[in-house]
Amino acid sequence: MSTLYRAARVLTCDPLTGKGPLGIIDDGAVVVREGRVAWVGPYANAKADAAETRDLGSALLTPGLVDAHTHAAWVGSRHEEYMMKMRGADYREIAAKGGGIVSSHRALISSSVADIHATLRARLARMASMGVTTCEVKSGYGLTFELEERQLLAIAEAAKDPSLPFVVATFLALHALPPDMKERKDEYVTSVCEHAVASVAARKLARFVDAYVDQNAFSVPDARRLAAAAHASGLGVRLHVGQFADIGGAELGAEVSAASCDHLEILGEAGARALADKGVYCTLLPTASFTLKQAPPDLGLLRRVGARLVVASDSNPGTAPSESLVLALSLAVRLYGLTTEEALIGATRNAALSLAEPERGALFTGAHADFVAWDLPHEDALMQPWGVSRARLVVREGRTLHAAP
Ligand code: NIG
Ligand code: FE
Repeated sequence: MSTLYRAARVLTCDPLTGKGPLGIIDDGAVVVREGRVAWVGPYANAKADAAETRDLGSALLTPGLVDAHTHAAWVGSRHEEYMMKMRGADYREIAAKGGGIVSSHRALISSSVADIHATLRARLARMASMGVTTCEVKSGYGLTFELEERQLLAIAEAAKDPSLPFVVATFLALHALPPDMKERKDEYVTSVCEHAVASVAARKLARFVDAYVDQNAFSVPDARRLAAAAHASGLGVRLHVGQFADIGGAELGAEVSAASCDHLEILGEAGARALADKGVYCTLLPTASFTLKQAPPDLGLLRRVGARLVVASDSNPGTAPSESLVLALSLAVRLYGLTTEEALIGATRNAALSLAEPERGALFTGAHADFVAWDLPHEDALMQPWGVSRARLVVREGRTLHAAP
């Protein structure tokens, strides 16, 4: 059984199929068999042996979007803090007074795995309705081992559901100190590195670890210990780096061959070069810098060194209270000056590669059949700040996740 999807403009995001880096095919076709792409190319060259043809008319068809940085397993709401920030309060001051990440930790205490799963499931379904077919989800609000595990179990439950985006779990092991360990950072880092990481890895609850490396957060030596523990347990490393200060997180990311260093609002030349030389993905989170009224990262520098760019939503209740990767794309273009090509590759092929999912994020023979038909005439139109979803049909592994009425 195979299905042929025809659309006026198909972007494979695979430079080997179609024109240019976006792999453009005018009047293209994608043939799907058993959840995989069986063939992609001009409709005129398609063999007429597909059991079913679905003509998507004037639609723009792209790979399914890949959101490579989210904290989507949060519960509760931090709208009071949002309003405090709008009135001029500083994100780090709110955190120092016991708000911020610790408020989301408190909201988790009274939530069961089932509660977290229900919230996450609904959020992932909304993300799918906006074109996301793969989503990285971090823990990081548990702070204690027991609560981190609760978040990871909820993420694992969502990952089993084929009606949601494909989920990649990350154990955000060093995000903030739990309130009762505020003065005992070394003890906390030791227990995370010597016990928690191995236990999470043994139960296959995550594929990556993450650490928030910044002033007022965790240090480069702390994150270096975490990376060593992760590698000893077979996990990859992602890092929050340079959101507020350049304390050498990018250099560390290169040293430990991180899969990705994310944020990078504050990044020096040496750090940028180290990331590019090591092929570490540079994940930009424009919704967060927009919320915090920060200046954009130095795109001139990132381009000069040849950085591999990813764009993600950072969906979280503190700095990016949005679930929309398409909003992040439009902000990346509007505020950071990314080209459509950089933004779209950053939310498809590069994002998937940063998650070690090379068979997603691009349409080529053998890839997972993850794609979106947009009710839009051109990829540039996808970069406009619509604020609404223009995804008409969203397909993961050949199965419909969302169809607009
Ligand atoms: O990516 N700053 C670190 N982590 C998150 C925000 C977490 C939160 O405030 O809940 C970020 O911006
Ligand atoms: Fe984040």
